[in-house]
Amino acid sequence: MIDLHTHILPQMDDGSQSVEETAKLLEILQQQGVTELAATPHFYASRENPEAFLLRREECIRNMPSQTSLLIHYGAEVAYFPGMQNCDDLTRLKIGDSDLLLVEMPFRTWTDRVIEDICAIPSQLGLTPVLAHVDRYRGLGQFLKYRHHLADNEVLFQCNAEAFERGASCRWALKQIKEGFIDFLGSDCHNLTTRAPKLSTATEIIQKKAGAEVLAQLAETAADYLHGE
Ligand SMILES: [Fe+2]
Repeated sequence: MIDLHTHILPQMDDGSQSVEETAKLLEILQQQGVTELAATPHFYASRENPEAFLLRREECIRNMPSQTSLLIHYGAEVAYFPGMQNCDDLTRLKIGDSDLLLVEMPFRTWTDRVIEDICAIPSQLGLTPVLAHVDRYRGLGQFLKYRHHLADNEVLFQCNAEAFERGASCRWALKQIKEGFIDFLGSDCHNLTTRAPKLSTATEIIQKKAGAEVLAQLAETAADYLHGE
């Protein structure tokens, strides 16, 4: 299993706050069947530029525990900002050697402007946008409103593992998966307590309710993008 969304870099953002916490998070992820992951710390264009972010990220990478066998692809979770499709430097924040850019959408109504900016990313930046934790927009109804239009414009979707834990949210996430609107799974893990990795619960439920082929397809999609196949 590949975890496309994590905050495991020590002291980079509101995720792991120490090397020890990172080591423990990596150990748990591995126990949950993860073999590869994307480290995707928050990037806010209003706070720093990509250059400053990358310098900070480089320092955090140097502090990563060395004893893990997990393959780690470094990227970012880029918060949407108007006109982001014209910011060439964002190509430096893509995940590893892939062309994937993890984008965090606004937690309010998505305007047509927001959607058009996102849909312009492939042609303007040559990147494939992946909307982070689409399950978190379930209550707003935004994802259901725009998912077809976004998918038609080469936008992909990542769902958080925690969505599969509870009733209504689990039913919603399974429906999206079965209808082909979830491309990647992520733990979006931040720490060992309130936002710990919960991938094994998710994979068990997907396998049981949607089928082993669906789960295998998710793993294959992630591998294809990350390994450039
Ligand atoms: Fe996140």
